[in-house]
Parts: sequence; C-alpha cells; structure tokens
Amino acid sequence: MTPNPLDDAAWWRHAVIYQVYVRSFADSDGDGVGDLAGVRARLPYLRDLGVDALWFTPWYASPMADGGYDVADYRRIDPAFGDLAEAEALVADALGLGIRTIVDVVPNHVSDQHEWFRAALAAPPGSPERARFWFHPGAGPDGAERPTHWVSSFGGPTWTRTTNPDGTPGEWYLHLFTPQQPDLNWDHPEVRAEHESVLRFWFDRGVAGIRIDSAALLVKDPALPEVPAAPAPGEHPFIDRDGLHDVYRTWRAIADAYTPPRVLVGEVWLDDVERFARYLRPDEMHTAFNFDFMARPWEAKDLRESIDQTLAAHAGVGAPPTWVLSNHDVTRPVTRYGRADTGFAFAAKRFGTPTDLALGRRRARAAALLTAALPGCLYVYQGDELGLPEVEDLPLDRIQDPMHERSGGVDPGRDGCRVPLPWSGDRPPFGFSPDGVEPWLPQPAAWAELTAERQATDPGSMLSLYRQVLALRRRLDHDAPLRWLDAPPEVLAFARGSMACVVNLGPAPAPLPEHTAVLVSSGPLAGGELQPDDAVWLALP
Ligand code: GLC
Repeated sequence: MTPNPLDDAAWWRHAVIYQVYVRSFADSDGDGVGDLAGVRARLPYLRDLGVDALWFTPWYASPMADGGYDVADYRRIDPAFGDLAEAEALVADALGLGIRTIVDVVPNHVSDQHEWFRAALAAPPGSPERARFWFHPGAGPDGAERPTHWVSSFGGPTWTRTTNPDGTPGEWYLHLFTPQQPDLNWDHPEVRAEHESVLRFWFDRGVAGIRIDSAALLVKDPALPEVPAAPAPGEHPFIDRDGLHDVYRTWRAIADAYTPPRVLVGEVWLDDVERFARYLRPDEMHTAFNFDFMARPWEAKDLRESIDQTLAAHAGVGAPPTWVLSNHDVTRPVTRYGRADTGFAFAAKRFGTPTDLALGRRRARAAALLTAALPGCLYVYQGDELGLPEVEDLPLDRIQDPMHERSGGVDPGRDGCRVPLPWSGDRPPFGFSPDGVEPWLPQPAAWAELTAERQATDPGSMLSLYRQVLALRRRLDHDAPLRWLDAPPEVLAFARGSMACVVNLGPAPAPLPEHTAVLVSSGPLAGGELQPDDAVWLALP
C-alpha cells in the first residue's frame, strides 16, 4: 500500500508547495475574478501536478487596494472569492486528495476599512482606539510635516495625515505600504491577542499552516527615529527588530499545541543570512522563503554561493531550506532569465526591458530541475509550471497594483505575473472564466500555445516536465545531504544519495559524470553532453 502523505509528520521539511493567487487561478461564477469554487474544481489538476500543499494568497474580505493584502476582516472570505463554508469545503476536498492548505496571515497592517481602523479614525487623539495603530502628531510648528522620513516599501512616504471631525488637519498615521494599509502597533496586547485568535480560527478549520506576510516588519522602535545610514543589526527602526522573535515564539507554541502541529512559513526579506536564520530557531518559524536564491542571476558562481550559504545557515538552526523561483511579487522566471541582467531587484523593474523568451524558457526548465533537486521545500508559483512569461504590455489603465502608481508610473508593478491562467481553448478567457467573460486582467492571445489543456498532452511541454520532475522527486531520499561533484566552473553538479543533478550555465556543452541512467533532462542530450542552459538528473552507479 502507498503510504498516506498526510501521515508524514515531517512533510514541511521537504514539501512541494504550490502558491495559489486566488484572483487569477480559475473563475467559476463568471465575474472575471478567480474564486474558491474555481480552485475546488481544479484540485485534480493540482494532484496530478504532484504538489503536497497549497498556499493561498489572502482570501479574506478586502477592498483589494493591494490585491487582498489589505484585510478588512480576517475571519470572513471576500465575497468575490466565496464564503467560509466554501473555504472549509476546499480545505477538506484538498485533504481528501492528500493536499494540505496554508493560509496567508497579514499581521503588519490591516485595511483602512477594518473596524479597528474605522473606530480609530472616529476616535480622538490619545484614545484607546488609536493606540492599536501608530497615530502621531506631525512635526513642525503646526504639525504639517510627517513624523519621520521613512520610505514606503512601495515608494513614497509612510505617513498620511488625518482630518478632524471639524475639518481641520489632525494626527498622522503610519503605513509601511499604501495609505489603505495602516500599520498595527505590536506593542499593544490587543493586537497580539487578536492575531493569536485569528491563528486558532484557521488552525481549527484544519489548515496545516500559515504564511506570515511581511514577517520582519511588525515591531517598530516606539521612539520613531529616522533610519540611520547604515543601521547595525537589530537597530533599524522597523525592519528585523529583536522584539519580533517573541511574537513568533508565542505563535509556535500555539501551532505546536495542535495535532498534528501546524507550521509557520515566514516572508522574511533580509540580506543578512545569519539574522534571517534567527527566525528559524527551533521554537520560532518552521521555514522561510529563500529570497536570496530567488534574486540571484543565472550564473553558476552566484547560485552555488547562495546554495552553500543557505545550507550552512539553515544547518546551524536545524531548519530545512526553501527554494523559490518566483511568486506574485516578482518577474516570471521565463522572462527574467531571458534578459541581459538575470537577477531580480524591485528597484530595477522598468517597462521595455528586452528579453529572449526562448532562452528564458530553456533556463526556467533547467532551474525547475535544479530547485527540485535541492534538499528542503520547493515552492511553485501558479503558472510557472506552464512556463508563462511576464505580461509586459498590459494596458496602463488596467494595471491595479499600487506599486505602479506609487512609482509615478515608472515601475510596471506586479500585475504582469498575476494575469489569469490559461486553462483551455484557443482564445481568451482560455477557460479561466466562462466564454464571453473578460478576466480582471487581459490575457495575451499568444497564450493559446500555453494552455494547461494543450501542454498536458505534449511530452515536451513545461507542464509535462514539472509533472515528471515532481513525480521523481517523491522517490528521492529527502534526508540525503548535498555533495558537490567535480565540474567545470560554469557547471553546477551535485549528488544526493544515488542521484545527481547537473546544470550547465556556461556557453559550451559539458560532459556528464558517470551514470547508469538519465532520469529526466530539461533538453535533448546530444552526444551524451549537456547543452548550455540545460539540466539533467542522473542515476549514479
Ligand atoms: C508582501 C506580499 C505583497 C504585499 C505586501 C504588503 O510582500 O507578498 O504582495 O503587497 O506584503 O502586504
């Protein structure tokens, strides 16, 4: 009998986790927006792909000022997506197929439509309602200047001034993202208690874990100093403050009290790997996204350095690493790897950056083999298994991502990786919505070539490659450590147990190590050599 994957208590150490961006997955009710019933109907597709868990981006009631990362009510499903009963049914159906669910928790801020913030705006300065946020008088003689010059993660100021009931200008409030996302005050006991209750609410409904949004930003220096030019570790006024670890220790205790224990996955963007690893100590989060690896260029030296640093930092705390090629915030790999600069940086996003999609696709195939072979968890962002490129020519008036507008229109924003999936058929909406319905973002006509339906029967497609690789990955020894093999400098070659993965990042064909079989390859092996930008899995003698 095949073992039930749900019996595996260590699943989070080696899982393949598929990120569902709900708005763009599948629209069942014909309003042009993806929904939970759409996901439920497509669960067999996800089972056949071979994933262990689904991470859902926020599905809560939200005005969608930031795609749902502006939560108005953490216990209610947004009506565009469905309702709580539908969410419970989805979690249960997925479990029935052996697939676990991770929900997104957004603790740094709420929507300006959340009842707490509405109450705070209606209450006077100094009131208990305002104490749950960061309200502050302005600087300067008449309070007309913002309290600090902190810069928003989306660009622009982090403070917005309120208006008093009599129409006069009032206090300012802090928002590290948009003004529609006021930051909570994590020094306030009610803020902590509320989130602990939200965690239990979802854990009680059978979800296997949570993804913690903006996890390194919650705690602020209450003195509100300016950001120093080169802050020492722990001294930035709002990033990676030492007080955060208490929050996650409390959450870990809550998660551990469940049977089976629930898991915490952190969105922790930090350059300092040692500081990053502190979040993964045994009584804090289970795992966190490896953005260092994700942002590296397609260069052997760079990727190897990131892999080595990642493995060392995680070994130090006993946590499994994660491997991430993309998500709903960054440029799709097929597009990025076809550019002159193959690294990722938010600040570098511009319209009209040339790309060679054929080259990018080839590299993205190789990158899929590379990441799936590394020890730890693998994240797959919806649509990457179809090899979707970034959509870089969205009509400007259709772009909803606030990053675009807040950059003064210079940054294209993140909608190019959020375009609704093409499922079937020859023209939009490609089975995403019922025929005749226009999806919330327009899909390129060229996606007729990339539908899941078409790729499912093409053995050379990206979808077939992903299915094959994820099926093989199940048979790997998850505990086998990585051992580098001798290889030319532009080739990454490593073994794990009796399998080897070789990736050629150089311009010339590369010889393969001695092997008994080729398990899977991202491109044709001509004359027993690995072509540039290809990867292969081998069975070792
Ligand atoms: C995280 C999310 C991103 C969101 C931001 C603010 O970075 O991944 O999509 O805009 O947090 O919540």
